[in-house]
Amino acid sequence: MFSRRTLVAVLAPVKHLRCLSKQSAVGEQKVTSLLGKDYKVDSWTNTTPSILEKVGTNLHTQKDHPLCLLNERIKTFFYKSFTKRGNPIFSVYDNESPVVTLKQNFDNLLVEENHPSRNQADSYYLNSEYMLRAHTTAHQREFIRAGLNSFLISGDVYRRDTIDKSHYPVFHQVDGVKLFSKTELFGDHVSKPDLLELFGDTELSPHNQAGHTVEAALTVQTHLKNTLEDLASALFGKDIKTRWVDAYFPFTHPSWELEIWYQDDWLEVLGCGVMQQQILNECGADSKVGWAFGMGMERLAMKLYNIPDIRLFWNKDPRFLDQFKSDDPDKPITFQPFSTHPPCHNDISFWVPTGFQENDFYDIVRSCGGNIVEQVELIDVYNYTKLQKTSHCYRVIYRHPSRALQSEEVDEITKLIKAEAETRLNVTLR
Ligand code: DAH
Repeated sequence: MFSRRTLVAVLAPVKHLRCLSKQSAVGEQKVTSLLGKDYKVDSWTNTTPSILEKVGTNLHTQKDHPLCLLNERIKTFFYKSFTKRGNPIFSVYDNESPVVTLKQNFDNLLVEENHPSRNQADSYYLNSEYMLRAHTTAHQREFIRAGLNSFLISGDVYRRDTIDKSHYPVFHQVDGVKLFSKTELFGDHVSKPDLLELFGDTELSPHNQAGHTVEAALTVQTHLKNTLEDLASALFGKDIKTRWVDAYFPFTHPSWELEIWYQDDWLEVLGCGVMQQQILNECGADSKVGWAFGMGMERLAMKLYNIPDIRLFWNKDPRFLDQFKSDDPDKPITFQPFSTHPPCHNDISFWVPTGFQENDFYDIVRSCGGNIVEQVELIDVYNYTKLQKTSHCYRVIYRHPSRALQSEEVDEITKLIKAEAETRLNVTLR
């Protein structure tokens, strides 16, 4: 989220899909009810019923679900580090509410005011104060403030995005944090830890934050990279080839992405870095330094288990779930596809109004078509210069995960999408 998107100017306010949300009126005020709480609807609200419906499903903790198997493997890897007294170093949290404040998701993590991820077009907002978290990193600060030094947080995250076999507006992430005091960082590595310091009069450089000594920054970096390379080997096999790519995240410096060579391609596995000291200082951990990482679970599980389409994770069909029944999460599983039903498609063309946001259209497609929609492709953009008008043509590809589709039912959905796009987005159909 934070590394791949280029910084663009904040876009014009989007037309909200407010009427599609799961809302009711309490007195005069419209509210969205979610996980036992009411959130006032305001001009920021852009959640849709099909998104709200997913909240609380927690695929990552459902027994025999591939995401749960992967979550277990990651936990087992971190449980292997013990204190000298034999207690596991990392504690694990996988039940934090995905409803967070904008402050938790952005400000607490030093995300810039004009960062594109704050756009209404990119995230799901309940209102101007609350949102569905866009990353599990949103919880780091409160855990550090509570005094934790080493922890993992896994859970569902929500982002507005394109529609294809590897993107879904809800997916799962694991974040990990490890903090070190001076002796914890240097004690194991050198004979005279007292000669080394965490903090000094240093300037910001590509290798360290201002105020971090070069030896502290390098030792944290080495610990982080060794740990995550070991994690990659534990998940993908001990001979896995890895490489580190410089990255940018507002909450770490320096920052990297880890890639592995897998099935003839480099696969991005996670983002990580040395935690911004400002965050630690503001949480009362000013005598420590630390590292953090975050990884998306679906993309890894798709590779590990050979799952060809991200929608399958939401499939309740026993022909999918039964393949992941396992007493041993480390036992390799290769998913055998059970549906080879052919796709069918419909094209939708319209003149786009000013301020049109593609993600608004994708939300309508998801709301009307649900998991039957496999992909939406923008196949043609036509600029009618004389009238200064632009037309988009989208191909909506439908495929049911477990049965053949009738063309009539697909046509009905297309009709509904067109009607919704006309009334809610103000497009003119062609
Ligand atoms: N939150 C980032 C994302 O969603 C991933 C990430 C990067 C998490 C670096 C971290 C971190 O905790 O230190 O793209």
